[in-house]
Amino acid sequence: MSASKLVKPALEHKESYIEALREFQAEGRYTFLDVHDVEKNFEDFIEKVNDGKKHLHKPYADWVEPVPETVLWLVKDNDFIGTLNIRHRLNWHLEKWGGHINFVIRPSMRSKGFGKKILQKGMPFACYLGIERALITMDPKDEVGLHVVEFCGGTFDGDTPETDQFPARKRYWLDCT
Ligand SMILES: CC(C)(COP(=O)(O)OP(=O)(O)OC[C@H]1O[C@@H](n2cnc3c(N)ncnc32)[C@H](O)[C@@H]1OP(=O)(O)O)[C@@H](O)C(=O)NCCC(=O)NCCS
Repeated sequence: MSASKLVKPALEHKESYIEALREFQAEGRYTFLDVHDVEKNFEDFIEKVNDGKKHLHKPYADWVEPVPETVLWLVKDNDFIGTLNIRHRLNWHLEKWGGHINFVIRPSMRSKGFGKKILQKGMPFACYLGIERALITMDPKDEVGLHVVEFCGGTFDGDTPETDQFPARKRYWLDCT
């Protein structure tokens, strides 16, 4: 059995990624992706995810400036476990609601330590991309996520209040050096 590692999304993780996408969609995440389309055109999907040109801010893509983004997958024994997104810089939306780093573990693999692993392993990548201090914004009700961010050394910066369009967020800074 191998250790988990962060890798560039690749074709070899297709089966487990599609299973995970179904799990994510069952809890309301990534609903903008058509799972049949992703499965059928997986090579194109991987190419798009890896092109790094922009973070699309779905569903706000039309009125938020896109920023470059690196997407990494946490895999173990070649199976997909979770996704880490690193936005190379902030725009007005990311400053308050999105942050530099976003991370998610597939529902069937939660509570096994992978949430802590994906963030810990992602911090040197952020640093490599020039992000010495990374902003992470959290749902105030996400007790597990808050625990993971605090475990990884996140320091609380303040609250972004809820608006008509966007939810409340807690803002944390992570020292990635
Ligand atoms: C947040 C998330 C990544 C955590 O992943 P995970 O694999 O379950 O995390 P881990 O197993 O590494 O750690 C969970 C920790 O939370 C703790 N925890 C569990 N329930 C808790 C609760 N109600 N309150 C506080 N801590 C809790 C666990 O005890 C564990 O900590 P420990 O190892 O110190 O005991 C996962 O829940 C997820 O993908 N959530 C949806 C997306 C998200 O919220 N992302 C974060 C914002 S970007």
